[in-house]
Amino acid sequence: MSFRLQPAPPARPNRCQLFAPGSRAALFPKMAASAADVINLDLEDSVAPDDKAEARANVIAASHDIDWGQKTLSVRINGLDTAWWVRDVVDLVEQAGPRLDRIMIPKVGCAADVYAVDAIVTGLERQTGRSRPLAFEVIIESAAGITHVAEIAASSPRLEAMSLGAADFAASMGMQTTGIGGTQENYYMLHDGARHWPDPWHWAQAAMVAACRTHGVLPVDGPFGDFSDDDGFIAQARRSATLGMVGKWAIHPRQVALANAVFTPSEAAVTEAREILAAMDAARARGEGATVYKGRLVDIASIRQAEVIVRQADLING
Ligand code: COA
Ligand code: MG
Repeated sequence: MSFRLQPAPPARPNRCQLFAPGSRAALFPKMAASAADVINLDLEDSVAPDDKAEARANVIAASHDIDWGQKTLSVRINGLDTAWWVRDVVDLVEQAGPRLDRIMIPKVGCAADVYAVDAIVTGLERQTGRSRPLAFEVIIESAAGITHVAEIAASSPRLEAMSLGAADFAASMGMQTTGIGGTQENYYMLHDGARHWPDPWHWAQAAMVAACRTHGVLPVDGPFGDFSDDDGFIAQARRSATLGMVGKWAIHPRQVALANAVFTPSEAAVTEAREILAAMDAARARGEGATVYKGRLVDIASIRQAEVIVRQADLING
């Protein structure tokens, strides 16, 4: 282990991030009543250019008027290549209520993108005397973003979470697909004549998780577009959870319960983790660093693995 310890990520549940267009204010109360840990009101790609100003006004009003309970409230601004993002940032910092927790920056390509937003937010917060600093989350959804993922993860102390955005990522990479996440028909291996479908998102997810964990940022899986395919969503989410991600987006309310179920450690997993910790306690009392649990080796590394599961369960149970 490096002498520099791995920082812990923010201790906030982040199992599901529910999105809706900022232009559809009628959905906001339904989002507040949902079981999602994080609410993302969108100013970017789900809002048509003519509706940008209205959406901005809607989300600012919603930060004041709606009771968001314990949820993390986030607004996705427009990308730094657009005419809208500066106004998004200025209006949010100057006019949104203190209840706004995060700004989500899409299509981040390098650390300087985050630095630019940070500089404006910091200056405006000093000017307005905003009591609680805004946090950031970013989306990795371009070739540049995944290439510079490590410097992006280290870019700002405001950075809490990072999501992988499958659709824009696929477009930027020139991938031949119009699907948003999940299994890709033409991405298969042959074994004894039978097809087997590996996961084309795996490498990007793993790179992102490593960068996030190095810098204490929450790694999150982005959207799964086919919201009538529950099994496909669950399969994608389970792979993400296995790789170390803490949650997934919902682009339709029916995906919220699915994400919560996958990213809440099961009772069986928590029980097993606690049993491993107990077995290791007993082993240590005997002066041993390793022992046997249900016929398999457990050692001091097993304590760290089990603690990941127990900590996550404790965090969710409040
Ligand atoms: N949040 C909360 N509630 C939502 C919702 C959302 N994102 N999307 C739909 N609902 C509600 C509907 O109002 C409806 O409520 P009702 O039963 O009280 O009438 C119910 O859930 C079922 O909605 P449905 O008719 O199936 O969906 P829709 O046709 O109204 O909308 C989408 C479908 C996909 C257009 C919409 O869910 C959406 O805009 N999703 C988010 C898109 C987005 O933000 N993209 C950016 C990130 S990738
Ligand atoms: Mg996108």
